[in-house]
Amino acid sequence: MKVLVTGGAGYIGSTICSALEDYGHTPVILDSLVTGREEFTRGRIFYRGDIADAALVERVFREHPDIYATIHCAALIVVPESVEKPYEYYTENVCKSLALFHTLNRLGYGRVVFSSSASIYDVVPGFMVTEESPLKPGSPYARTKYMMEMILKDFCTAYPMKGIALRYFNPIGADPKMRSGIHVKEPSHVLGKLVDTALGKLPCFEITGTTWPTRDGTGIRDYIHVWDLALAHIQAVEQFEQVFERLGGESRYAVINLGTGRGVTVRELVTAFEKVYGKEICKVERPPRPGDVAGAYANADTARRLLGWEARLPIEQGIADALRWGEIRHTILKYD
Ligand SMILES: NC(=O)c1ccc[n+]([C@@H]2O[C@H](COP(=O)([O-])OP(=O)(O)OC[C@H]3O[C@@H](n4cnc5c(N)ncnc54)[C@H](O)[C@@H]3O)[C@@H](O)[C@H]2O)c1
Repeated sequence: MKVLVTGGAGYIGSTICSALEDYGHTPVILDSLVTGREEFTRGRIFYRGDIADAALVERVFREHPDIYATIHCAALIVVPESVEKPYEYYTENVCKSLALFHTLNRLGYGRVVFSSSASIYDVVPGFMVTEESPLKPGSPYARTKYMMEMILKDFCTAYPMKGIALRYFNPIGADPKMRSGIHVKEPSHVLGKLVDTALGKLPCFEITGTTWPTRDGTGIRDYIHVWDLALAHIQAVEQFEQVFERLGGESRYAVINLGTGRGVTVRELVTAFEKVYGKEICKVERPPRPGDVAGAYANADTARRLLGWEARLPIEQGIADALRWGEIRHTILKYD
């Protein structure tokens, strides 16, 4: 099947495109390259432009009327930047997604899989969250994700649309075949920073936040291999209608956690990293960054039930793939 992937030139979107191809599907990418990389679109159907450009979206569907569903990954994603630039984040993520959903509905292409985020959860005792756990998005970025979920839900109630919001936990690693991975020059993700420290691009790894009420004081996360994450999207599009049958009733909107179901603290991640890397790295402790929270890990039962999917790759493979990608990425990505 053909699938529109907005943000398909980004880290996760490009991995989803690779997975779609590996499973016999055809991705159609719509990406403005505001942060993404043209290199990840090579050999793929690619429209360079904005998700809010209705004329362009119309053209995409006119030229590919057989698109079955849209996977909407396009967004700005850096938490501290969203604290400094809320106007840009609400405009880029919320206003533009609203415009995209409106166009999709108007054109009659109502199947949407949306990249949401576990950053919208409140911190709960024990740190494990189900889809029904309380929400408390702690940054402008997280609030854009929360608002986009609400918009999609309301559209699915009012219009002939069906939506699946996938709440990603913490993606790590790279495509195991090394077609893509983290692309930003200075990664804001914890594993990207560990890799940069190991490769000598950063002097020391900063453990940000050491007084959270977790087992060792550092933030707890659910690190999921980006390939596992991509495979969940294959299930979401292949099983799109079945998801709603399994939900039962009249429901046209589903929320699904995508995590491993295991919580790992930053210190534990660093230890696993050093084991895979084979050497100790320099580490320093720092206060939390603006917008940081103690964290959460997924209850992954709904994904198993509705998608027939569960994460399979161990954290060590995520680390090993991130390291490999860190070493070879300059051969794929050309920076000015
Ligand atoms: N990476 C994470 O840790 C994480 C965690 C949870 C959720 N998510 C979500 O997953 C999605 C993908 O994240 P990523 O890590 O791949 O980020 P990324 O920055 O690598 O990819 C985002 C892509 O969207 C494109 N884009 C942004 N705004 C656009 C617009 N208006 N029109 C067209 N294209 C636009 C960018 O050019 C980029 O290619 C995002 O929605 C993000 O919120 C990411």
